[in-house]
Amino acid sequence: MATTPALHDALLDFTSRENWDKFFALRGDGDSFEWYAEWPQIKAPLLSLLLGEEGTEILVPGCGSSSLSEQLYDLGFRRITNVDFSRVIVADMLRRHARVRPQMRWRVMDMTNMQFPDGSFDFILDKGGLDALMEPEVGTKLGMKYLDEAKRVLKLGGKFACFTLAESHVLDLLLSEFRFGWDMTIQAIASEPSSKSAFQTFMVVMVKGKMGVVHTIKSLVDQSAEYCNMQQANAVIHALQNENKIRESHNSGVDILFSLRDLQLGAIGDLKVIVPGRRRQLILGEQGSSLYCYKAVLMDAKNQTETFAYHCGVFIVPKVCYILSICTCALIVFFITITV
Ligand SMILES: C[S@@+](CC[C@H](N)C(=O)[O-])C[C@H]1O[C@@H](n2cnc3c(N)ncnc32)[C@H](O)[C@@H]1O
Repeated sequence: MATTPALHDALLDFTSRENWDKFFALRGDGDSFEWYAEWPQIKAPLLSLLLGEEGTEILVPGCGSSSLSEQLYDLGFRRITNVDFSRVIVADMLRRHARVRPQMRWRVMDMTNMQFPDGSFDFILDKGGLDALMEPEVGTKLGMKYLDEAKRVLKLGGKFACFTLAESHVLDLLLSEFRFGWDMTIQAIASEPSSKSAFQTFMVVMVKGKMGVVHTIKSLVDQSAEYCNMQQANAVIHALQNENKIRESHNSGVDILFSLRDLQLGAIGDLKVIVPGRRRQLILGEQGSSLYCYKAVLMDAKNQTETFAYHCGVFIVPKVCYILSICTCALIVFFITITV
């Protein structure tokens, strides 16, 4: 992708709607503009995921002016919903496609807060959308919001294909947010033979499965292969090795310390359902925080009894109590009555 200095300036902050409007207005209307890999490189890996199922409900968040949706439409995939928060580009895309591709849908919408019911789509196709939300100054807040939304609107068994440069902060988020219940694969997208692109694009695919199940990641990124940017490829290989170690430890029965976020992500299944004999350790608060950090154990009763009203308990033991400036170990016991 080549940009002029004016276009580049318009995009100093990739999370700003005004900046994107300015960017698309400066580019002018009527043609497509591709971030990262182009259709000829993406086509084969993408179609192998779509399996020729033309009734597939496809969502394209952060569609921009990419030609991806029109290529899919022209191959027979008619149920495509494109989303972008830039009115400028959605108006342009509508003008260009409404007559020739009448069944294609275009929405001005914030992908971190989508107006679609749960489980609306079979396939989410993101090219550069997540990356645009992950400005280092913004942190992971927008990326997390978007991924929560993407998970929500995807059907069980649905696929989320994310084309990304897999910078470490983006890949880390994908790996941790899709750790529990998602089947994940990653591959590098071949570069255009004539292209001298300095960046390697990766396709990360997540398939929505059952909560709590942890799969190791299948990777087609290989140290012995040649990529246009070996530094990027090696960083991905290293991150995947670390993540797979974490995932293997989850499956090995080792007593793992879960964070609250892990629980929200479904690490131990549905918390509202009692699993007789379940015992899980978790950290409440920020690990390493000097303010508070509690190690807790969640225990479900082994057997239901008629006489005992409490079915599970949580014990909270502060490791160090700074407020009293002495080391204190207090034992607080909460009994939670759950009516089953
Ligand atoms: C890097 S571009 C990718 C465009 C296109 N997918 C492609 O491959 O060329 C990011 C796109 O996401 C859009 N975008 C950024 N933040 C958004 C948000 N919160 N909601 C919806 N669209 C957003 C921008 O307007 C822009 O069109």
